[in-house]
Amino acid sequence: MNEIKIFSPATIANISCGFDILGCCLNDIGDEMVVRKSNQPGITISKIEGIDLPLEAKNNVAGAAGFALLNSLREPIHFGFDIEIYKNIKPGSGIGSSAASAAGAVFALNALLNYPFTENELIQFAREGERLACGSPIADNVAPALLGGFTLVHSTDPLQIIQLPSIDKLYVSIIHPQIEVKTSDARAILPQQVALKDAIKQWGNVGSLVHALHTNDIDLFGQSLHDYIVEPYRSQLIPSFEEVKKASLNAGALGCGISGSGPSLFAFSKSESIAKKVSQVMEQTYLKTQIPFFIYNSTINQQGIKILNQK
Ligand code: HSE
Repeated sequence: MNEIKIFSPATIANISCGFDILGCCLNDIGDEMVVRKSNQPGITISKIEGIDLPLEAKNNVAGAAGFALLNSLREPIHFGFDIEIYKNIKPGSGIGSSAASAAGAVFALNALLNYPFTENELIQFAREGERLACGSPIADNVAPALLGGFTLVHSTDPLQIIQLPSIDKLYVSIIHPQIEVKTSDARAILPQQVALKDAIKQWGNVGSLVHALHTNDIDLFGQSLHDYIVEPYRSQLIPSFEEVKKASLNAGALGCGISGSGPSLFAFSKSESIAKKVSQVMEQTYLKTQIPFFIYNSTINQQGIKILNQK
C-alpha cells in the first residue's frame, strides 16, 4: 500500500464526571487525511485545508505523533510520508481537533508500514501530539478516536486503556460556539487540589457511569453525568453555559456538560426525537447571544478511525 485516505472522528473527552479518563467517539463529525509514502525521509505536510495550522511537521500535532511512531520503529525504513489534512474540526473547539490529527496520522502511518504497532502503542504515539497541542500528553480523546466507542484511561504510566461497552440507543447533540478556548488555558484555571466531599460524589458518578454502560442502563448513565470538580471553573469560559444546560435538560436530555475543555457543550438523549428537540433549544438559547455557533447531531461511533480508500 502506498496511499491511504481516512476519516478521523471527533470525540468527547471527560463526559462530565471523568476528567482526563473518559471519552467517546462520534459519528459524522471529523477530519479527512490522506497519507502517502514519499521519497523524502521523515514526515512532510504538503496541505492543510479548512484551518490555518503549521505545515512544518515538527510543529504540527500530526507530525509530532508521526515522529513518535517513526522513532519507535525496530527496522530502518528508506522512505518517508507526506500528509494532507482536511480539517473540519476547529482547534480549540473541545471536540478533539488535535486528537483527530494525531490519531489519524499514527493510524495511517501504521497501515502504510503494514501494522507493526499495537493499538496501545498507537495511543502512546498520538499522546505526543496532545503534548504538543496543550502541554499534557492526555489520552482521553486519542483513545476513543483510535478505538471507537467509550474508553477509560485506567493508567497513563504504564498506559492502560479499557474499552467500555456502549449503550444501544444514545444520541448526542453538540453546540460549538465559535469562540476558541485553548485546552492549555482551560487546564491552567483548574485547582490543584479538590475537596474530599466533591471527590466522593465524582467517583460515585464515574463508577456508576461505567456500570451503566456495562448494564445498558440509560437512566443510570444520565444520572452519572455530573461534574462537581471541573465544570464550576470552566463553565465561566463559556457564554450562556447555564442557560444551554438548563434548556437541554428541560427538553429531555439525559445530561449536558462541557465537551473536553470546551467551549462545545454536549447533551446525551435516549431517542433521536429528543436529541432533535435538545439541538433546537440549544440553538434557540444561543441565538440570543451574538456569538455564531454550529450544531451537530451524532451517535456513538463504534469503530473509530475509518479507512475511506487505499491504494
Ligand atoms: N481531558 C482534557 C481536558 C481533554 O479536559 O483538559 C481536552 O480536550
